[in-house]
Amino acid sequence: MQTLLLSLAFAAVPCLVASEDPSPQHVQWMKETGALNGKIRKGEDVEASAKRLAALYKDVAVFWSPRSETGKKTTADIQSGADALAKAAAAGDAAGVAAASRTIGGSCRTCHDTHREKISETEYKIK
Ligand code: HEC
Repeated sequence: MQTLLLSLAFAAVPCLVASEDPSPQHVQWMKETGALNGKIRKGEDVEASAKRLAALYKDVAVFWSPRSETGKKTTADIQSGADALAKAAAAGDAAGVAAASRTIGGSCRTCHDTHREKISETEYKIK
């Protein structure tokens, strides 16, 4: 009985810690996300970058929504945050731009804390 329990315990461990290589598609999404977010933070092409981010996260949400609640919520919040950001930028509403940028940034952080595993300075996995 003890042997059986032990082997069950060992069999379960790799499942709990398993992380997965992101698809080239996912890495591409994140690289574009990083570039768009960088522009938004520098105040460059904010409206156009926000519109592209909103469109991009429709696809990212299709990938994440069935996988996890955190993935579903953060990708939805980035879409609505990016919509709000595009509108605020078009209206020249600085407070609205700041608020929407905070929503977006918080969603990046929440998903990364939960689902991003750093392997090296240049490499990440999905957990
Ligand atoms: C739903 C989860 C999720 C959200 C939301 C999310 N990310 Fe990511 N991100 C990941 C995961 C998982 C990885 C690691 C796998 C990969 O690189 O594809 C990653 C990797 C990255 C990388 C590294 C890409 C590389 O390999 O060079 C950057 C940059 C990045 N994210 C930026 C952002 C920014 C900026 C936001 C918010 C606007 C954001 N991410 C929102 C999950 C997310």
